[in-house]
Amino acid sequence: MRCRICGREAVYKELRFCPQHFQAFYLKKIRSYLASLRIRNLKVLLAVSGGKDSVALAHGLSQVKSEFGLKLAVLFIDLGIPGYSEECRKYARGIAENLDLPFCLVRLSDYGKTIAEIRHERICGICGTAKRYLMNRFAWENGFDYIATGHNLDDELAFILNGLLSQDLQMVLGAEKFSPTRKEKKLIGKLKPLYYLTEDENRLYCEINGLDYCRAKCPFSRSARQLEIKERMKSLFKSKQEKINFVKTIRKIKKPQEEQQVRLCEKCGFPSFQPVCKFCSLIVEK
Ligand code: AMP
Ligand code: FES
Ligand code: ZN
Ligand code: ZN
Repeated sequence: MRCRICGREAVYKELRFCPQHFQAFYLKKIRSYLASLRIRNLKVLLAVSGGKDSVALAHGLSQVKSEFGLKLAVLFIDLGIPGYSEECRKYARGIAENLDLPFCLVRLSDYGKTIAEIRHERICGICGTAKRYLMNRFAWENGFDYIATGHNLDDELAFILNGLLSQDLQMVLGAEKFSPTRKEKKLIGKLKPLYYLTEDENRLYCEINGLDYCRAKCPFSRSARQLEIKERMKSLFKSKQEKINFVKTIRKIKKPQEEQQVRLCEKCGFPSFQPVCKFCSLIVEK
């Protein structure tokens, strides 16, 4: 199969691109994401887990940062999962060094329990709460304008499908490609520059650019349900375009009116929907 642009051997079969034109296609997606949201001259914290998506995100954003006047730093959250957290940290630190970006480390254990110490059947949910809380808090305390994560098209699809299959409308409509910063609520906005890029595309981007990433899986089988849904998605979607169409259709359904009111947690002073936030009640030691 040949590249649709230059006729050389294609490495990305679905859209027929050679390595060079795949790279151009990939960076164009990131550029158009930033341009559409007018993201310019800002300090952006890259949440890097060490996996293929966030490693590709860090590299991709660094390639375009000067065009958009972005100041970048890498944040790794050590959740205290024996063996796994250390392994992931190696790759997160590695990509920061490779790109000459500041590397920041936050340990969940500094706030109370580690993920390994929390015995709970919904451990992945608690882990997600902890990650979101710590990203936001670190970004707020260190003057970042936005947090960028490596969420990709397949993540968003799995999220939506999971919500549809379990009648969870919040989940279906919750995953947004962008959320704004609300300084008065100590809430730092989220950027998802890989929103319209798939897992396969992120993996290929890492390969083409010789980027090493963590291949280990979380021993708590991170979001087993999410992984199962992704398996099932393989037989549902025939092309990337169908995935995009699916997400875009869902996005057209308007959000229900009653938005939950964000307030500030009575204990830590960061955003919460209840008097005391989930992080303080589940993780911080009394
Ligand atoms: P996940 O929720 O594990 O699928 O991860 C989604 C995104 O959250 C990743 O692409 C990263 O941007 C970010 N993330 C996940 N885990 C960590 C971590 N331990 N440290 C920093 N960022 C993370
Ligand atoms: Fe959160 Fe495994 S990474 S439970
Ligand atoms: Zn080409
Ligand atoms: Zn709190």
